[in-house]
Amino acid sequence: MQELSRRNEHFTDSVIRRMTRISIDCGAINLAQGFPDFDPPEAMTRRLEEVSKTGPHQYPITMGAPNFRQALSRKCERFMGLRYDPETEMVVTIGSTEAMVDTIFALTDPGDKIVMFSPYFENYRAQTIMAGCEPVFVPLTPPAFGFDPEVLEDAFRQHPKAILICNPSNPSGKVFTYEELKLISELCIRYDVYAIMDEVYEHIVYEGHKHTYMSTLPGMRERTVCCSSLSKTYSITGWRLGYALAPQNIMDRIKQYHDFNTVGAPSPLMEAAVVGLDMPMCYYEEFGAHYAHMKALFTDGMRELGIPFTDPQGTYFVLADISPFMKKGQSDVDFCVELAQKLGVGAVPGSSFFAEDVDHIIRLHFAKRDETLNAALERLSHLKELAH
Ligand SMILES: Cc1ncc(COP(=O)(O)O)c(C=O)c1O
Repeated sequence: MQELSRRNEHFTDSVIRRMTRISIDCGAINLAQGFPDFDPPEAMTRRLEEVSKTGPHQYPITMGAPNFRQALSRKCERFMGLRYDPETEMVVTIGSTEAMVDTIFALTDPGDKIVMFSPYFENYRAQTIMAGCEPVFVPLTPPAFGFDPEVLEDAFRQHPKAILICNPSNPSGKVFTYEELKLISELCIRYDVYAIMDEVYEHIVYEGHKHTYMSTLPGMRERTVCCSSLSKTYSITGWRLGYALAPQNIMDRIKQYHDFNTVGAPSPLMEAAVVGLDMPMCYYEEFGAHYAHMKALFTDGMRELGIPFTDPQGTYFVLADISPFMKKGQSDVDFCVELAQKLGVGAVPGSSFFAEDVDHIIRLHFAKRDETLNAALERLSHLKELAH
């Protein structure tokens, strides 16, 4: 038989989602794949119940239900201070995951380069390769995860088509400052490069830090695609609702990929999610306070256990240094499998996020109920036993 596509020889399955399967198999607390074990807002589940009886249950309009897009446009105006036209400048997708891949296909041709920071969310590299493009990595240096502007400009000198930025950033927890974004935006304009933003953690930012939307910077609205999602903001990762926002000339292209790949996002879920998009300000304040609580509980616990970690500025991830707990010569992947099987905690090996040779870091997330986090911390208190 003829050989299969060579494109996917260059990436494996998602290590994050593999760790979820391993966690399920051995009954581990899954702190690997980032999803909450608490309920979405009751107003949304109540509305979903109603919609199950009233519909819609049939194909949606390809770019997304009109009332969803209107509500999204209102929400964007509220938080970004920018108006995106619901008819021409947005598309509702199967999570931000689809928004990102549609955007990459819409902006690039095979052989193009895409700049991204390392550590990076593992989807980015796979999606870049799927589109026949080449990632150009620029390191973010721990613990503050700053970057060297000279190294970044060197990447821009390679004539990339786009820079892909996760802000707030998974897995580092970095929230890019206004000054950093300004510097990046000036490079985008000078070298004529598009910005693809993944802003799914836009509402999970901790005290002392502020999320700035790249599209709000001077000269950037016309060259930025903002991809985001309802997954994290409303604790509905399984509803698979995301979106892309872009000027019409770019959006027309993004919609073509969306149209032929998916037809549309799920109609009943879009209908129920409108309630979420129209939620009052106090929802986001309580949501932020809940995350600050979970972060404090988990990171205080890690500190007490003497597990070195980086304190996130946003998102719900910590990167922990496991070097004191590893066996000699052990890989981070083997360590995570053992952690799940022997201690019952699922984590993601850092090597799946870093372009550099890094094998002593794991990613844990804390979007969990207090009792789940306390149980996970109790299990992590036995970490030293893994070293023997
Ligand atoms: C940075 C980042 N982008 C995108 C996604 C996926 O989002 P969605 O559920 O909207 O596809 C995740 C999920 O973990 C993520 O961490």
